[in-house]
Amino acid sequence: MSKKAEVITDWTFVFPNDANPYGAMFGGKVLAIMDTIAAIAAIRYSGRTVSTAAVEAVEFKLPIVVGDRIQTCAKVVWTGRTSMIVKVDVYRDRRAEEAPTHCTSAHFTMVAFDDDRRPTGVPPLLVETDEEKTDQQLAELIHQQAVTRRKKSDEGRA
Ligand SMILES: CC(C)(COP(=O)(O)OP(=O)(O)OC[C@H]1O[C@@H](n2cnc3c(N)ncnc32)[C@H](O)[C@@H]1OP(=O)(O)O)[C@@H](O)C(=O)NCCC(=O)NCCS
Repeated sequence: MSKKAEVITDWTFVFPNDANPYGAMFGGKVLAIMDTIAAIAAIRYSGRTVSTAAVEAVEFKLPIVVGDRIQTCAKVVWTGRTSMIVKVDVYRDRRAEEAPTHCTSAHFTMVAFDDDRRPTGVPPLLVETDEEKTDQQLAELIHQQAVTRRKKSDEGRA
């Protein structure tokens, strides 16, 4: 039976040890936060342990600096047989009177595992709203690109 995905939201603070000497947060630290919430979204959706198989096209559009609050939102937007694509959005929050500003997005492909750490089936995603349909279409494109890339990479090694 198909299943609705929930949005997972988290907040954190940017401390000096998260940033370079000029105060800008390291991209790797942002990715670690994104990867964690993507895993939580995938675990909540599938009810399984998961592992990150791929991260697609991360663009750091705006800097996040020491003292910013970071809001991270994650949602499963596409499902295959054993894999799920989780869209993660990151916002910085500086001033209480302004809405958080979108800084970064990325799609994480997470694979669900059975108890023997073999890829296992996930419930098909229930897609209802226009936004969910658009997100699913983009994720399908990302999946197809990953399939093509893997095939070419395997051929290159053969
Ligand atoms: C991800 C992993 C489980 C895939 O194992 P595998 O033997 O290739 O398994 P499969 O070929 O059956 O692929 C399983 C699913 O993952 C997807 N997948 C595997 N590699 C992928 C990639 N590079 N990009 C996108 N999807 C990928 C497949 O499309 C398949 O999805 P589907 O069942 O929905 O069609 C395996 O490569 C692995 O354990 N990698 C290390 C993961 C890890 O440690 N991550 C943390 C970073 S250190």
